[in-house]
Amino acid sequence: MHWRKALKDMKPYTPGKSIEEVKEMYGLNEVVKLASNENPYGTVPAVQKYFENMSINYEVYPDGYAGLLRTKMAEKLGVEENRLIFGSGSDELIVIIARALLGPGTNTIAATPTFPQYAHHAEIEGALVKEIPLVDGQHDLNAFHQAIDENTSVIWLCSPNNPTGSLINHEELVVFLEKVPENILVVIDEAYFEYITDPAYINTVNLTEQYKNVIVLRTFSKAYGLAAFRVGYGISSPEIITNLDTVRSPFNITSTSLQLAEVALEDDSFIAMCRKLNREQMVRIQEFAAENNLHVFDSEANFLLIEVPMNATDATEKLLQHGYIVRSGDALGVPGYIRVTIGTESQNDGFLEAFSTLIERVGHER
Ligand SMILES: Cc1ncc(COP(=O)(O)O)c(C=O)c1O
Repeated sequence: MHWRKALKDMKPYTPGKSIEEVKEMYGLNEVVKLASNENPYGTVPAVQKYFENMSINYEVYPDGYAGLLRTKMAEKLGVEENRLIFGSGSDELIVIIARALLGPGTNTIAATPTFPQYAHHAEIEGALVKEIPLVDGQHDLNAFHQAIDENTSVIWLCSPNNPTGSLINHEELVVFLEKVPENILVVIDEAYFEYITDPAYINTVNLTEQYKNVIVLRTFSKAYGLAAFRVGYGISSPEIITNLDTVRSPFNITSTSLQLAEVALEDDSFIAMCRKLNREQMVRIQEFAAENNLHVFDSEANFLLIEVPMNATDATEKLLQHGYIVRSGDALGVPGYIRVTIGTESQNDGFLEAFSTLIERVGHER
């Protein structure tokens, strides 16, 4: 087989353990998954109802143009329809961008730690990845700027950043965009956009009008609670959208998923509720961390990166034994921390109890 050289030292994505697996492993009846930043409140109620009555022509290909969803989304965002692209999750849009713009001889710039799929797909395409360490959990945009050279093709900004949850400051972003050459695509991945409560946040969609080389990525997987159905979207200039659409496979989103996204898009109250409850529950975990002298990064997303008083992989394993699936910082490039999705009130009651047990045990062992 003529596998690409880049694949030699790479591994497929390792998914976290499923609820069923953990139940089986530890003989538990209840297991709470707080590892993948999914929505603990489910999805928009109208979607659940719609599903019961859905009629789909099984034998007909989906609308490759995502026409109805496109019209609704364009209206909601106040942009022209030709400035949107839809993907099978924003994951697919990352693949499309890498495929369209990266290859041997090019390079790409991303933070570290950040969402690993940027570097993963850049490497598969044979591009060089320049990783810029976060400073206090924040993107170091000056260092990003210094890393640009004539072969730089794509810059990835993740805001709020996964796994720290930090938001890029708007003024700094604008100063940075002013300096980036127009032939470099700047991706602003806002998978957690709906959870942002920082009053200083200014809608980045407006930036895509002023800076034609910017694309904003968002998704129905998080606050809309439709991770199972894989719908993400990008907002950019018509020229960039046309080129990316050329790489996109023609029927990349199923008819079911398109219809559910259309229905979900109409329920702003569900999103507002999730944003509010997420913030309330996040404060509880932040307070717990403060009481226990554990560092926690400021987060504008639906997860927190929290210090643990032990090896992160051991902490993750111990929480698993209590029925809580979280992500070890060891796997995310942040040793000594775990990333926990903000659950519901009762999920967090249990999580904080399990976390307390862990901390007490470490105290005794010392
Ligand atoms: C920052 C970021 N971008 C993109 C994604 C991919 O989301 P999806 O493909 O479900 O839209 C995720 C998922 O965790 C993420 O954290």
